Amino acid sequence: MPQITWNTTFSLKNLELDEQHKRLVAIINNLHDTITQGQGLQSIREVFSALVITIKSHFISEEQLMRQYAFPGLAHHKQEHDNLIEQIDITSKRVAAGNNELTRDVQQYVASWWLSHIENDYREFGPFLKNKGLKQF
Ligand SMILES: [Fe+2]
Ligand SMILES: [Fe+2]
Repeated sequence: MPQITWNTTFSLKNLELDEQHKRLVAIINNLHDTITQGQGLQSIREVFSALVITIKSHFISEEQLMRQYAFPGLAHHKQEHDNLIEQIDITSKRVAAGNNELTRDVQQYVASWWLSHIENDYREFGPFLKNKGLKQF
């Protein structure tokens, strides 16, 4: 999978969430470049670990927002997040154990997951936030 290009259809019209999603796209792309340019294991590991931190902190704040406004789709949405976390935790453990796991497959998995998540799992959340009167732009 090539680089992900930010698309206006990804927007939830919420500044904070859009900024977090853009940061996520940027770091997924950064991992893509680091791997395809053969920048060496250390750099790839650093970008991957930054990606893991970015993902986890984003999920925490997104789920907090959903909880705060009692979003009915929270359980399903959280399950999608948990599926990705399970996979990246497995990869992190293998990397920590010295395995050279950080291949293009890993980047492609995360990129595909993200594209599917943004395209399928936010259809109700954007309008929901709007109905709750959250500031839109
Ligand atoms: Fe998100
Ligand atoms: Fe999400």
